Amino acid sequence: MLERYNNIIELKEISSTNDYAMELAKRESVPDFTTICTNFQTKGRGQVGNFWESNMGENLLFSVIVHPREIALKEQFILSQCVALSVRDVVALFCSNVTVKWPNDIYVGNNKIAGILIENQLSQKHIEFSIIGIGLNVNQTIFKHAPNPTSLSMENEGVVFNKEELLHLFLNHFTENYNRILSNPEELRSRYLDNLYLKNVPHIYSDADGFFEGKITNVEPDGRLIITDKYDNEKKYYFKEVQYILI
Ligand code: BTN
Repeated sequence: MLERYNNIIELKEISSTNDYAMELAKRESVPDFTTICTNFQTKGRGQVGNFWESNMGENLLFSVIVHPREIALKEQFILSQCVALSVRDVVALFCSNVTVKWPNDIYVGNNKIAGILIENQLSQKHIEFSIIGIGLNVNQTIFKHAPNPTSLSMENEGVVFNKEELLHLFLNHFTENYNRILSNPEELRSRYLDNLYLKNVPHIYSDADGFFEGKITNVEPDGRLIITDKYDNEKKYYFKEVQYILI
């Protein structure tokens, strides 16, 4: 059964749901899974300072606040894996060939359908709280800036989706997966690997030393991507240290 969530703050327009959630979580001790969603962001942020493109009212734009104090700092990538899998679970209800492009983009085929921006407030020993920002392309069919976008509607012959239902579906999957972070992290890690974009597929990458051919073979618990090159050397990368080359 689809459980409904009460702690959802709906805003018509905001600069960024992540910024709003960050201010809120600093100011008040809100319950886990408090969610801020909006129809439009004037300064929607993507990874590495990019902006997040989304037409007014067409897509899901939201941020969820959690307090994952039990996750060791060096293992915080498990939260990213858990969020990515939860978005993937929802998209896979409506599309086939849905994967997670390391570290946490959601792809349908070779196109990006959702992006995730996690911002952590750290204390010395643990994560005080996390703002989990998600942009899921739902009903938008024309994009001006995103390089390889797709949406649920584009993948389903123009069907218009109910955004509220999708948000509740996500929160259902996320709460379930979040509870597994402590009880069964290995299950999450192995499901993440099973659904990883281009896992074990030969592909061209580039790093600080230039172009090379290799296969993604694993992801370390600290989030490093492992690519095995054709001479069987294992190369390990943090985010932005390696690029996937389009062919
Ligand atoms: C990416 O670049 O892939 C991450 C995109 C994250 C976008 C979402 S939309 C809701 C939340 N608020 C933001 O400003 N960004 C995230």
